[in-house]
Amino acid sequence: MIALADLKENFRCPVCGDLYEVEYPAWSTQNGTGLAGAARRVLPNPSALKWLWKERRSSTELKDQSGVWRFRELIPILRDEQHIVSLREGNTPLYHLVRTADLTGADRIYAKHQGMNPTGSFKDTGMTTALSVAYERGFSWVACASTGNTSAAMAAYAARAGMRSLVLIPEGKIAWGKLSQALDYGALTIQLKTDFDGCVRVLTEVVRRAPVYLLNSVNPYRLEGQKTPALEIAEQMNWEVPDHLIVPGGNLANGSALGKAFLEMKQLGLIDRLPRITIVQAEGANPLYRAMQESSGEKLVPVEANTRASAIRIGNPASWKKAVKVVRATGGWVEQASEAEIALAKAEIGAEGIGCEPASAVTLVGLKKLMAAGRIGIHESVVLLLTGHTLKDSDYTINYHRGTLLRDEEIGALGREIEFTRRNTIELEADADAVLRELEKAAQ
Ligand code: F0G
Repeated sequence: MIALADLKENFRCPVCGDLYEVEYPAWSTQNGTGLAGAARRVLPNPSALKWLWKERRSSTELKDQSGVWRFRELIPILRDEQHIVSLREGNTPLYHLVRTADLTGADRIYAKHQGMNPTGSFKDTGMTTALSVAYERGFSWVACASTGNTSAAMAAYAARAGMRSLVLIPEGKIAWGKLSQALDYGALTIQLKTDFDGCVRVLTEVVRRAPVYLLNSVNPYRLEGQKTPALEIAEQMNWEVPDHLIVPGGNLANGSALGKAFLEMKQLGLIDRLPRITIVQAEGANPLYRAMQESSGEKLVPVEANTRASAIRIGNPASWKKAVKVVRATGGWVEQASEAEIALAKAEIGAEGIGCEPASAVTLVGLKKLMAAGRIGIHESVVLLLTGHTLKDSDYTINYHRGTLLRDEEIGALGREIEFTRRNTIELEADADAVLRELEKAAQ
């Protein structure tokens, strides 16, 4: 056990170099011998916890209204709840995907939409926890390297707490919407002439040399907050766990956090089985997929990442060992998605009236592939974790519908399906007859 004061600023063990993980020994013994503070308390029984978490939804207190902190019994990381920095994150919708059911023949497909968080991505759930820790410990500055969403979330929460934030992003390689958020929330925003992995390298040195608290997902307190969508999914499904959960993979913290949550819920008797957790990467940024194919997840060789799904353009994922553990423990798989498959899936999720950012759409590609391989049956329940809002990357969407996103050689056999989902804008003179003619054409 490592004392809090000895935590390294990069959250890696000085002996083996692996990432730290938050553990609560008190939960396994139920009499609490390991941790100080809140975790030593014996938890209420599972039914009481479920009742309490539901009751809090009608409370007017901030820490109850937050979809993260209402589960605070399972994230006892603060010494004092006064230090909670929250934007009322979480409590996101679980949508039934009706058109996807028609498309795949499976009728129990759901989307947990983490893009419906305050800054438009799942990062808010982890940012409220880790930034609250930074605030409690008296830091003035927080920092992250980001493909966009982490920076938006961090900047917003830092501003809420009256703290300063430093954002390092790869120049020209993130969606403008996300960059604009970091600026709007007042972050010192620096574009570096490198990729995401290069930004991480520079930031690691910055936090070693300055009193700045690192808020990338190597920070284990981020993962504690990112557990809560799993709790919400279980709650929204009346504590019936789905058969499968499909998650996009970039730096690989999110799949790890959700897996940790399901494993802890099972340990605590809140659920009686685990969903199979599958992680999907973009083909051009697929180091975990390759690691599973080539060495069954024993060794990861970084790749030079290249995908239009900018949020997951990551070649050297920090949390890969945790992700491998989760995939193995839950009996899931790792899949990959091509550029055309991602674009088509994004349009299909859009056509559900839901929408998501490109990185999130890999989950639907994963679903199709697992069904084609016979790994998901038509009667099984599946949750796709949509990580970001459709407005995050509107250029991508517009280019897709204009037909300028993909090259012909990328489209290959998907041409007909892509054509079917495209909805280009039409320019006409201001004339009702002309509009009616288009309406008639469209109705046929
Ligand atoms: N989806 C979206 C929308 C993301 O922004 C990210 C990561 C992921 C999926 C992948 O999650 O890294 O935990 O495997 N975005 C990062 C960022 C890294 O800086 O915003 P992961």
